[in-house]
Amino acid sequence: MELNVNGSLHRVSGDGLLVWALRDELGLTGTKIGCGIGLCGACTVLVDGEAVRACITSVRTVQGKRIRTIEGLAQGDQLHPAQQAFLEHQVPQCGWCMSGQIITLAALLEQRPLPDEPTMLAALSRNLCRCGCYTRIRQAVRSARLLVQQQEARR
Ligand code: FES
Repeated sequence: MELNVNGSLHRVSGDGLLVWALRDELGLTGTKIGCGIGLCGACTVLVDGEAVRACITSVRTVQGKRIRTIEGLAQGDQLHPAQQAFLEHQVPQCGWCMSGQIITLAALLEQRPLPDEPTMLAALSRNLCRCGCYTRIRQAVRSARLLVQQQEARR
């Protein structure tokens, strides 16, 4: 099967789950596996701009769709505002959930560039952090919103 991942076409074998195709076949290990049953959000990737849990998504269902992982979120040297904000606030502790957190935030910011804070926090509420970094995650969410505002003002 052929998948469009981070702007390039890749052949992957079989009809397994997206998370394993990304990690084991394409080497995109920024997408993590946590619970494996769609609950924690560690495996979140973008599929046609929507945040999708790769551990419960079959490869077959995403053929012909545009998949983006954490490795494909930045544009060249320009980090996505969600990445920039998580970096500025040094959010990760163990880091396992972070790509899923960032991808979920990126999905929301790309769908609604200036969502209000409760909407942003609600979107991230289903991404679990076992280190409990929620204070820094909230700070990063506020910063990401400001970064998007600044980007919009420069256009
Ligand atoms: Fe996919 Fe937890 S690993 S939701």
